[in-house]
Amino acid sequence: MTVSASPVPPGPLLDVAELAKRFVVGSKRGLVARALSFSKPAAPPSLLHAVDDVSFTVGRGETVGLVGESGCGKSTLVRLINRLLDPTSGSIRLGGAELSDFRASSFAGNPHRARIQMVFQDAGDSLNPRYTAADAIADPLRRLKRMSGAQLKARVEALADMTGLPRELLPRFPHQLSGGQKARVGIARAIAVSPELLILDEPTAALDVSVQVVILQLLQQLKRELGMSYLFVSHDLNVVRLLCDRVLVMYLGKIVEHGPAAEVFANPSHPYTRALISAIPQADPERRVDRLRLGGEPRSPIDPNPNVCRFYGRCPKGTPRCAEEMPLLRPAGAARQVACHFA
Ligand SMILES: Nc1ncnc2c1ncn2[C@@H]1O[C@H](COP(=O)(O)OP(=O)(O)O)[C@@H](O)[C@H]1O
Ligand code: SF4
Ligand SMILES: [Mg+2]
Repeated sequence: MTVSASPVPPGPLLDVAELAKRFVVGSKRGLVARALSFSKPAAPPSLLHAVDDVSFTVGRGETVGLVGESGCGKSTLVRLINRLLDPTSGSIRLGGAELSDFRASSFAGNPHRARIQMVFQDAGDSLNPRYTAADAIADPLRRLKRMSGAQLKARVEALADMTGLPRELLPRFPHQLSGGQKARVGIARAIAVSPELLILDEPTAALDVSVQVVILQLLQQLKRELGMSYLFVSHDLNVVRLLCDRVLVMYLGKIVEHGPAAEVFANPSHPYTRALISAIPQADPERRVDRLRLGGEPRSPIDPNPNVCRFYGRCPKGTPRCAEEMPLLRPAGAARQVACHFA
């Protein structure tokens, strides 16, 4: 199979439709007992709904932010898109090609592999401790672009220059590099094969604040220079506000609000988005708003009731209707969507 470089197909670069991932959960003993219970009809396994019917697009050259609290399914969603995990259902189209038809286990050798790359949350953990920085950056070029020799060496050095990694650090192993240098290696490795879509899963979460700023500036500069699209996962809403064209707000596996970042931040519609935004630290006293504190416990993502709003129980605006009818993501203005009965 070959991947045609031109002409550019119309439509968005990434088109995710009704994507879902459910993990079978329960103790190993419970699973074995269920498998062995020949006499009784086996109870269905418990399913953790990590990503639940998620649909969105990323345009060419666009930066789309994905926000939501820890455990809401952000990493699972981007791992599905990056074809590290197989979806339970749904579609992932990249420039018109259906990627969900390919198994995650064999995607490393797929011609589409070079088109999506990912920068992982903790560069230290995601780099092989036995690979030097040069080996780490060269690895995808060897595998996906069949580069070797002087051409490979020159490309690795060019990538070090592009990401601000001094060339003399290329022979070093990850434990001999600082957090910021490891982040640069992770970025150089991800952009090495010229991806069209770069997924960034909390790329600066493990870094000191001063280093975070420098790495975010580097990412913005690379995007301008290389014309990639970004899917940017972050729990830092100030960063998302600055960097992203559009934002997706996720709560317990579902997108609850979606729209242009400037509009969503200026005028959040969903009660959960309002609570998230009210919690952003504001230096400017004019912009400070009272922090909305969420009561109650988050609902369980295991076998959730399909008729109850996932935010019910914590939502300050909840009514009995919210416990009987799941709100759907509906248009709210020209470019926005909100999943709340009362938005
Ligand atoms: N391999 C797995 N098996 C079972 N549950 C998982 C697995 N991976 C993630 N989960 C669960 O899926 C939910 C979403 O996790 P994750 O995508 O890591 O969230 P986030 O990145 O937003 O913190 C969590 O409840 C998590 O415990
Ligand atoms: S549907 Fe009800 S519980 Fe859900 S977010 Fe809206 S008001 Fe809150
Ligand atoms: Mg995560």
